[in-house]
Formats: sequence, structure tokens, C-alpha cells
Amino acid sequence: MSVDLNGLVLNNPVTVASGTFGFGREYGEYIDLNKIGAIAVKGLTLEERQGNPTPRVVETPMGMLNSVGLQNPGVDYFIKEELPYLSSYDTKIIANINGNTIYEYCKLAEKLSNTAVDALELNISCPNVKEGGVAFGRDPDMVYKVTKKVKENTDKYLIVKLSPNVADIKEIGASAESGGANCLSLINTLIGMGIDIEKQKPILARGIGGLSGPAVKPVAVRMVYEVSKAVNIPIIGMGGIMNYQDAVEFFLAGAWTVAVGTANFVNPMVSIEILEGIEEYLKRKGYSSIKALVGQLKF
Ligand SMILES: Cc1cc2nc3c(=O)[nH]c(=O)nc-3n(C[C@H](O)[C@H](O)[C@H](O)COP(=O)(O)O)c2cc1C
Repeated sequence: MSVDLNGLVLNNPVTVASGTFGFGREYGEYIDLNKIGAIAVKGLTLEERQGNPTPRVVETPMGMLNSVGLQNPGVDYFIKEELPYLSSYDTKIIANINGNTIYEYCKLAEKLSNTAVDALELNISCPNVKEGGVAFGRDPDMVYKVTKKVKENTDKYLIVKLSPNVADIKEIGASAESGGANCLSLINTLIGMGIDIEKQKPILARGIGGLSGPAVKPVAVRMVYEVSKAVNIPIIGMGGIMNYQDAVEFFLAGAWTVAVGTANFVNPMVSIEILEGIEEYLKRKGYSSIKALVGQLKF
């Protein structure tokens, strides 16, 4: 079940998505974290952030809307207080980094370079902050520039996380690849809104938020399919994966690895169950490795 993402070797191809697994501690009580291929930690910023005002999370018929706004204790706290805990497990640690400027992304990369983190995930796709985030992720030139600059400031394996809120995600993926990304992860949340008809106000305090969960899966599978045809680097596929069947769709579409997000809130054991389901599927279909399944869509 191990998978080599051209330099980052995971014990298995089931990882957890940033912002849905904290720094691992809460889930460590329920599952053996050694059984997770990689843990992408909550989005980190240079300084501590309180996030957006509440309400900032709401359920939708097929998922959820969130506008958490990158609440986190800051990168220095993470390195000192959270990383040692995570490093005690046999899983890869992905630091999700978020800046308002290229300088901030580079500074974060620099700070994490001499730590036990295995990879950086450049979040240029967060819809829940005023500056930075998706503003970077929408412009191919900016994606190229920020990727290249961060790459110059770190020896760590670099993943660039793409936003689905763009006209042509293939172009953005290709820019990240040209800038030196080792891998792409997609998708982040789709911008959405919910309205309370009695109060006649938006449900989320900030008005808009990011949609995740089963509702976004067909969009995510299509985007993984398209991007996998446009680049030559590995892809971590995510968006609405609730069970092993969903995960297999992503592998067939061209993802080398998957990430489980919103489903963790429903069932903290789900990533392990998905891993077992994939193993059983591979046996049933006669595949000798997960790699053999990647991109095998008959179309
Ligand atoms: C509550 C919440 C917080 C999130 N925080 C982050 C974050 O800090 N950084 C990031 O790159 N993505 C963040 N995401 C996006 C997820 O990592 C993932 O890309 C997205 O939710 C799609 O996967 P899913 O449908 O399986 O949840 C967050 C998602 C949710 C639901």
C-alpha cells in the first residue's frame, strides 16, 4: 500500500485534509495515527489567528459550509508544542502554510525547513481570508511566482493546494508545476452561501464560506481528472470522500493519494475504514499495488 510521490514516501495512500484533523491530538484518542499515510495539519500563519466571528460552520444537505478563517496558534507554537507529538508517530507530517504576501509564505517555509515536518502544503486557495489565499491561487503568474520563491527558501517537499474557484484549474496546476511544485493537492472548498429566511440574514457571520463534503465530489473528481492530464507531477485528490468507493474514483481519475476531510467530523475512524476498503478492492480487482490503479479510468 505504500506510495512514492516522487520523493515523499507514504506508508499508505490515505491522508487527512488540512483543517479537518487539527494537529492530530483529538483523533489520536480514537485511532492509531500510525495507520494514516500523512497528516496535513491545520493551516498555519506566521502569527496566531483567532479566525472569523461565529457562526462559522453550518451543515448543508450534502456537506458543510465553513468560514473558520485559519484559526491557529501560529507557526512558532506549532513547531514547539504540536510537532513533537505528531513526530512520535510513523506518519508523514504536512504543514499547510498560509500568507498574505509572498514574503510571508517564504518566511513560513524558512521557519519550517529545519524541523521534523516532511512536506509543506502551500495553501493558495483559502476562500475564508480577506487577503492572500485564493487571491494568489487565481492568477497563474502569481501561482508561478509564489511557488518558485517558496521553493528557493526551503529544501522540503513542496505541495501546492489548488482552489476550485477558478476558470481553468489546469492552467493553475501547470503554473505551480513550472514554479517547482513537487506535487499538487486539490480541491479546496467551493465558495458558497446559506441564508436564514426568518432573520433574512446569511447563516455564517462572514456571509460566505467554503463548501465541502459529498456535494463537491463530482467537481473534485472532474478537476483531478483534468489536472492529471495537464501535469506530470503527483496529485493528492480530495473533496467529498466519505468511503472507499469515493476514494477509488479519485485514483481512477488520476490521484496518486487521497485526503479525507469533512468525513472525519462524521466518523473519526473513517480514514482507517477507507484504507481497509481500498486494500480489499485492490485484492478483488487483482492489482498488486495502489500505483497500478492510478489513472486507470477506461475512457
Ligand atoms: C472546517 C474546515 C477547515 C479547513 N481548513 C483548511 C485549512 O486550514 N487549510 C486548507 O488548505 N484547507 C482547509 N480546508 C479544506 C480541506 O482541507 C479540503 O480541501 C476540503 O474540505 C475538501 O475536502 P472534503 O470535502 O473531504 O472536506 C478546511 C475544510 C474544512 C471543512
